[in-house]
Amino acid sequence: MKAIIGGTGVDSLPGIEAERTLVSTPYGEVELFKGRGKDASLVFLPRHGSNHEVPPHLINYRANIKALALLGVTKAIGIYAVGSISNLLQPGKIGIVEDFIDMTGGGRNHTFFTGGKELVRHVAMDCAFDPALNAALLDGDSSLVTGGVYCCTNGPRLETPAEIRCYGRLGADYVGMTCATEASLAKEAGLRFAGLAYSINWAAGVEGNTVQFIDDCAIEKLKDHMTNICLLALGDDHDKND
Ligand code: HPA
Repeated sequence: MKAIIGGTGVDSLPGIEAERTLVSTPYGEVELFKGRGKDASLVFLPRHGSNHEVPPHLINYRANIKALALLGVTKAIGIYAVGSISNLLQPGKIGIVEDFIDMTGGGRNHTFFTGGKELVRHVAMDCAFDPALNAALLDGDSSLVTGGVYCCTNGPRLETPAEIRCYGRLGADYVGMTCATEASLAKEAGLRFAGLAYSINWAAGVEGNTVQFIDDCAIEKLKDHMTNICLLALGDDHDKND
């Protein structure tokens, strides 16, 4: 089984027939969409809920990832709206997330390993994203921007210009509010995971005095394109053990 996790602007998958399903996990119930017919091996999970009602800092990330694992998902791609800090990924462009900096501050339930009967484990994050899935994404679209570092803030507020200057100096190329938590839990759960970032604005203070978002029509086009390359990559990645 394979999954796509969608976020802002990606609340459903165009062209995929799917049925709403509730999955019970030890962390809570998760609403997701299971494909039917030719898409029966696909799960779509809208991380903010199907009506976009859950803000990034209140998403039940552990339940979401656990639900995928319980359904037998072994590989997943998360789609992330971001604001651009460096010139690497400019607004309107799509990139493969290479690494992340977690600036969420520890206020989220961000790990499965909480001690007690879960034991203590320190899962390596030197390769948080799956190289074979990344390669499959690039096969689907060789113009994807590679090598990006995602800075994950707690949100839901956007950043100040001083914060963005700070994150840029730390090595971040773009900023969002969900990827680090999702990717690290996916790694802890043993899922093969990749992240696609699409930029919808220059981050605060980078260009101009106010944050300006690209228009909805451009976002729709990016969303359709990302769905297609995710489906291609999930169906055709380079891991022969799959
Ligand atoms: N900051 C944080 N998250 C975001 C942004 C941003 O500028 N744009 C899209 N998601």
